[in-house]
Amino acid sequence: MMTNYETHEHDVLVIGAGGAGLRAAIEASAQGMNVGLVCKSLLGKAHTVMAEGGVAAALGNVDPEDNWEVHFQDTMNGGKMMNNWRMAQLHAQEAPDRVRELQEWGAVFDRTNKGAILQRAFGGHKYKRLCHVGDRTGLEMIRTLQDQGVHRGFAVYMECAITKLFKDGDRVSGAFGYYREDGRYVLFKAKAIVLATGGVGKAFTVTSNSWEYTADGQGLAYDAGADLIDMEFVQFHPTGMVWPPGVRGILVTEGVRGEGGILTNKEGKRFMRDYLPESTKDLFSADDEESKRWVDAAIAGVKTNDRRPPELSTRDNVARAIYTEVKEGRGSPHGGVFLDISYQDAARVRKKLPSMYHQFKDLADVDITAGPMEVGPTMHYIMGGIRVDADSQMSRVPGLFAAGECSGGMHGANRLGGNSLSDLIVFGRLAGLGAAEYVRKLGAAPSIDNNDVTAAIDEMEEPFKRASNADMKNPYDVQKTLNQIMSTYVGIFRNKEDLETGIAKLQELKADVQRVGTKGSKVYNPGWHMCRDLKNMLIASEAIARSALSREESRGAHSRTDFENLSPELGKFNTAISKDGDSMKLEKTPCPEMPEELKKFFVKKETTHNG
Ligand code: FUM
Repeated sequence: MMTNYETHEHDVLVIGAGGAGLRAAIEASAQGMNVGLVCKSLLGKAHTVMAEGGVAAALGNVDPEDNWEVHFQDTMNGGKMMNNWRMAQLHAQEAPDRVRELQEWGAVFDRTNKGAILQRAFGGHKYKRLCHVGDRTGLEMIRTLQDQGVHRGFAVYMECAITKLFKDGDRVSGAFGYYREDGRYVLFKAKAIVLATGGVGKAFTVTSNSWEYTADGQGLAYDAGADLIDMEFVQFHPTGMVWPPGVRGILVTEGVRGEGGILTNKEGKRFMRDYLPESTKDLFSADDEESKRWVDAAIAGVKTNDRRPPELSTRDNVARAIYTEVKEGRGSPHGGVFLDISYQDAARVRKKLPSMYHQFKDLADVDITAGPMEVGPTMHYIMGGIRVDADSQMSRVPGLFAAGECSGGMHGANRLGGNSLSDLIVFGRLAGLGAAEYVRKLGAAPSIDNNDVTAAIDEMEEPFKRASNADMKNPYDVQKTLNQIMSTYVGIFRNKEDLETGIAKLQELKADVQRVGTKGSKVYNPGWHMCRDLKNMLIASEAIARSALSREESRGAHSRTDFENLSPELGKFNTAISKDGDSMKLEKTPCPEMPEELKKFFVKKETTHNG
């Protein structure tokens, strides 16, 4: 039987409509391209809004000493030198212009008393660098980009999920998908494609990510022949909600600590000082009095020589510290620790952290101006992703570009908070530009083979055919098992035995993914959607677990209890995953060599300590 599908044609198809996708679409459109923007959810609903506390850019409005070179160094040090140096350089150099551009497009940032964009402190950033809108920065960014995009006149396909990329020879030629609302199929012919689909959070039990984050871009790119690099580097944000159970994992912005929030265990001990790596101890205040002076100075907007509070260590350290406190029995009643900002003026807390105030009041019946929050680590971000050329954002598949969280390299082994919002606008723009340039140079438009379309349709029809099989698997049961495997064996702390067990279990789960089925029709059928999403989540999960097993050291967010030190030798290699027939191939490929004029920033003694 012939199955109908609608067809659209674009120069550039952008898949994903968070900050990176919107910025890429705006740029490609400004370059005169006919652009289509696909979003899995409704326009405006993206994980970008979960970067709440700010966008990092060395404007120097609060700390005038700041500049791109310091931002570059902080980013590389935070990423334990695994970052693609060129991406980190472009990011630090271009972020200030991209933030000013957002301002020109109408973003309403908080202000210093001189009227400049206000900047706050975040972990790992030497200076106050996070331009913010209370604790709703990502939301304001999406609103601004959306407004700007609407005026560009590109086509938007909402509630549309892409299941397959097509190629003509080596080059990308289009994509196939369906509308989640009614199951209609859709074919996009495109000369270039930008993937901006975000992360993989739904492969884990406790995550700040919402339902959309099922590794779509990573899976699609892998299938199309791109590399996934450094997938072992998964970021657990130190502070997610832990109670009540229905909201476990929802983000509690780092902005709370940036504004002076204090972490304590059930004994009332401010434990973070015990977990500061030796090499960074000098950067943090030695006692509560000094911490308090630093916070008072930050609130007053005056300079101080006092050192910052220990809660502002990098995310990998803080997440490990909280995890350890809980595991060793010093946690809060619901399996977290306490985060307290209630010692500050209540009106100020409500003004600086309005979303946190409402989030805890509405969801947990906790007044954060009157008492502490309970918080614990939540899977938030993946540093690894699709390998791209730093300047153009093109993957090794001609015509296939990637930007934002689904791409890899920029953040190395650990991302600094606030560097994701800046990443989205810097590399979203470069991807839009790169795609436009590629299209301009392309000769004849690539074509799509009808047999490929038929195969893509057949794949989507399979789950209905399995509905009557006695061994049919429920996709949600399979997802739950996947979550348990990843959270148990591939979590914050890892070791060889756990990782091998996890990989073996993922292999068994592959057979179950082949058997998932669903009943009913295609009209809003989340079970059917999950059947497809599982394929991508499994690819990403296997890539994470295999990469983690192969990296026999601890570096940034990748903590091996059986290899606790950082290995200077292993730091010279990226982990690259690619598709090899039906198997997953893993290689160690040399990291791009940093030029001498940038190396001069990193003359520190070589260390084997992961901190
Ligand atoms: O904590 C936060 O506001 C998150 C920021 C980020 O992930 O960049």
